[in-house]
Amino acid sequence: MSYRESTLITGIGELVTNDGDQGAYAAITDAALVIAGDRVAWTGPASRAPAADAVADAGGRAVLPGFVDSHAHLVFAGERSAEFAARMDGRPYRAGGILVTVEATRAASDAALRANLRRLAAEMLRQGTTTFECKSGYGLTVPDEARGLALAAEVTPEVTYLGAHVVPPEFTADPAGYVDLVCGPMLAACAPSARWVDVFCEDGAFGADEAAAVLAAGQAAGLGARVHAGQLGPGPGVRVAAEAGAASADHCTFLTDADVDALVSTPVVATLLPGVEFSTRQPYPQARRLLDAGATVALATDCNPGSCFTSSMPFCVALAVREMRMSSQEAVWAATAGGARALRRTDVGHLGAGARADLIMLDAPSHAYLAYRPGVPQIAAVWQAGRLVAGAVP
Ligand code: NIG
Ligand code: FE
Repeated sequence: MSYRESTLITGIGELVTNDGDQGAYAAITDAALVIAGDRVAWTGPASRAPAADAVADAGGRAVLPGFVDSHAHLVFAGERSAEFAARMDGRPYRAGGILVTVEATRAASDAALRANLRRLAAEMLRQGTTTFECKSGYGLTVPDEARGLALAAEVTPEVTYLGAHVVPPEFTADPAGYVDLVCGPMLAACAPSARWVDVFCEDGAFGADEAAAVLAAGQAAGLGARVHAGQLGPGPGVRVAAEAGAASADHCTFLTDADVDALVSTPVVATLLPGVEFSTRQPYPQARRLLDAGATVALATDCNPGSCFTSSMPFCVALAVREMRMSSQEAVWAATAGGARALRRTDVGHLGAGARADLIMLDAPSHAYLAYRPGVPQIAAVWQAGRLVAGAVP
């Protein structure tokens, strides 16, 4: 059989498909894959590959699903390298730094915000990220949040309304008034551009009742829920996420036993962001505790100018393996299929027949090299929806 408008990639040393039982990690050695249009049409042993219009030889390299980065804050202006340097000097990370970026973002032109956002999106693509989520949250006025989301919607369908990032200075004396704004006029202006609603549920940001109100309002407007939970200390974030039926609880750096139980017994994905702990010198999340208990774990960057300014999923995979004791297979699954689950997407994060043809070729023979050679650019080529969008087959 042969496929129309198709490309056969053969000579794949290791093809990670993630199409094991119930979407578990799976890989084929000495493999081939056929892209037809924007989809994966066939995967299997190279010796049984069907004919196609064009043929590329991977020369024994590994092919993986494109990374799915389910947590990023890319609409912002300015930078906070001095805050990072002070942290490395011993100062702790505080949520208050967010307001430095809010001031810069409000003052920035649309063109400046768009240019920064596109630069970061292109940077992600070169590093193998073919799907990413993007939050607002550095505007915190009705027009500034609405503009942030409209800009995000230009570059990704996974747009998240984070008006509830922190209480802005003009509402310091009236935090309840700010929650009303977030749940009312701001949501009305933002919902048309967004797919998700998120809240930073943490001391110094929003408490359990406020967070639950923000999620409920967002859900009533048709948005799916996600939560920043347990980043800076133990708190109610995971419970709030579970009660709201959120897709994901993100950070999970500080978890109680009840939180772990909630993550195991509900479909809420635990999204770990180890770049944050790297960049803040906090303890890493206990990935083993979650995985061994049976929770679904995703890895994402949290790319933002404050707590973690990396856009690199390969770096997060390396951290997950080295610092959180995830196996390379677990880390690669979490960075691809796990991210897809956190975004409730079935078309990405795996390379089963019918999946969107989002894939990366490593300049290495196996996925294990992502952690084995940390910091080395190993993404040789990136296909998105069947098109070669970065790099080239070496
Ligand atoms: O996910 N936790 C809240 N928001 C971001 C940090 C944003 C910032 O510091 O600018 C986070 O870490
Ligand atoms: Fe975040």
